[in-house]
Amino acid sequence: FTPRINCICCIGAGYVGGPTCAVIALKCPEIQVLIVDKNQDRINAWNGETLPIYEPGLDEIVKHCRGRNLFFSTDIDAGIRDAQLIFISVNTPTKTYGIGKGRATDLQFVEAAARHIGQIATGKKIIVEKSTVPVKAAESIAKILYSNIDDNVSFEVLSNPEFLAEGTAINDLLQPDRVLIGGSQTDPGIEAINQLAWVYEHWVPPSKVLRTNVWSSELSKLASNAFLAQKVSSINAVSAICEATGADISDVAHSIGLDKRIGSKYLQASIGFGGSCFQKDVLSLTYICEALNLTEVADYWHQVVVMNNYQKKRFARKIIQCLFHTVSNKRIAIFGFTFKKDTADTRESSSIYVGKYLMDEEARLVVYDPKADKGQIISDLREVSSQDPQRVDRLVSVINDPYDAAKDAHAIVICTEWDEFKALDYEKIYNSMYKPAYIFDGRIILDHAALLRIGFHVEVVGKVMKKPVNDLTPF
Ligand code: UDX
Ligand code: UDX
Ligand code: ADP
Repeated sequence: FTPRINCICCIGAGYVGGPTCAVIALKCPEIQVLIVDKNQDRINAWNGETLPIYEPGLDEIVKHCRGRNLFFSTDIDAGIRDAQLIFISVNTPTKTYGIGKGRATDLQFVEAAARHIGQIATGKKIIVEKSTVPVKAAESIAKILYSNIDDNVSFEVLSNPEFLAEGTAINDLLQPDRVLIGGSQTDPGIEAINQLAWVYEHWVPPSKVLRTNVWSSELSKLASNAFLAQKVSSINAVSAICEATGADISDVAHSIGLDKRIGSKYLQASIGFGGSCFQKDVLSLTYICEALNLTEVADYWHQVVVMNNYQKKRFARKIIQCLFHTVSNKRIAIFGFTFKKDTADTRESSSIYVGKYLMDEEARLVVYDPKADKGQIISDLREVSSQDPQRVDRLVSVINDPYDAAKDAHAIVICTEWDEFKALDYEKIYNSMYKPAYIFDGRIILDHAALLRIGFHVEVVGKVMKKPVNDLTPF
């Protein structure tokens, strides 16, 4: 085949489309990359000094390529017209209404993007589904595209799911475990797969570029996320057993992980997984299984989400129980609000739910996070307080200094594993807190022995902790 792609358009300048296409621009200097979005503010931010996404390494790449072969714009028509290959990288949230509410993937944005392409495109176009979508979504995209077709147009629809994780997106993109391309097994389909493979092979070894049919590709993405989420739920389930028995989750995870068949990654016990993908994709897989009448399979996967919800609730209950069964009007410092470190993203963060349960008990929350936006924190907490939105104004403050957040608090709750939390002066913090002073380490990142020596009561996911040194209280 002869490579003919010299212009790529990406519809959707979000967490996936932005970094992915920035890396394509970096690695393929001869290709023009146009990232388009209907959201003018987002595009302005991509064109400005402060990018709309915090991702280590992203700034440098965008600043290097922007204006050379990487362009951000709201002119979606021009992007569709000029490109031979178009990524659809729009949001695919869980449906909040109608059939499949709370589980099925909402495909309205994918459909709108496909219709837009159908209206504008002429000539030969390769359409690449990048957003995570249910199995057979590419078929729907193809139907929409072909229903508006005239003689001047032909489309090939590919599935090319993105496996990057936030916080490590640039590294994941530069050195992917694999690139997956699904396409129809016809001559034009295979030709389109080869065209997209050629783009990636600018920097990815050909042996890592996998070619499958469309449905295998779509299902692989959902199943990968379901497996990862399942691993986290499994270790979190074991953490509950540890707390009930005196086994130590760090020792257990370490020894489980050394088995090569299992592997050591995604065995970090936590307050439950968050983020925009895991829950959404497991729910989507569950919904698909139900629709296919695979009830037992649906129940199996659904349990991953059930366990995750349990972990968040269990952690919050432990806080309440330790603080003498009442947190009403007590100041509690929440350290970390994003769903993981090295991102500003708070979507589906477990902190939101821990915060909700504590607010249900009338605790006063003081939130500190190094990157999360203050307005976003407040709006996330408002969203889970729909019966009583005023309570957030009454109970929550967001502070930009961890020492101020902890001052006069009864407890500190570590919700995100930010590195900077390990380096704080906990002696100073202890001295400024109400006594007995508690730390709940939901991420197992602190030096617990040192905290006990200072005098803290320490509670950790998956561990039974000793009392602090010199503690004379009888409980
Ligand atoms: C297992 C554990 O592997 C071992 O570490 C432990 O000490 C004892 O239990 P075993 O039952 O002897 O060992 O065999 P294993 O190879 O793990 O297979 C167990 C079953 O799972 C077999 O029926 C095997 O066919 C099945 N299996 C295994 C699969 O169906 N698919 C797989 O991918 C792997
Ligand atoms: C995930 C997948 O990793 C990625 O391949 C896919 O493309 C998108 O979904 P992401 O959600 O960005 O990426 O982050 P990830 O690092 O996978 O973490 C997800 C959640 O699980 C976080 O809340 C994280 O804290 C939690 N987690 C992860 C654990 O609690 N324990 C672990 O061992 C690993
Ligand atoms: P993801 O995490 O999957 O990248 P985001 O929500 O971060 O999702 O980004 C998706 C982007 O897609 C948003 O900026 C949104 O404005 C954009 N978008 C959604 N639908 C369309 C559309 N039809 N045309 C252009 N942009 C769209």
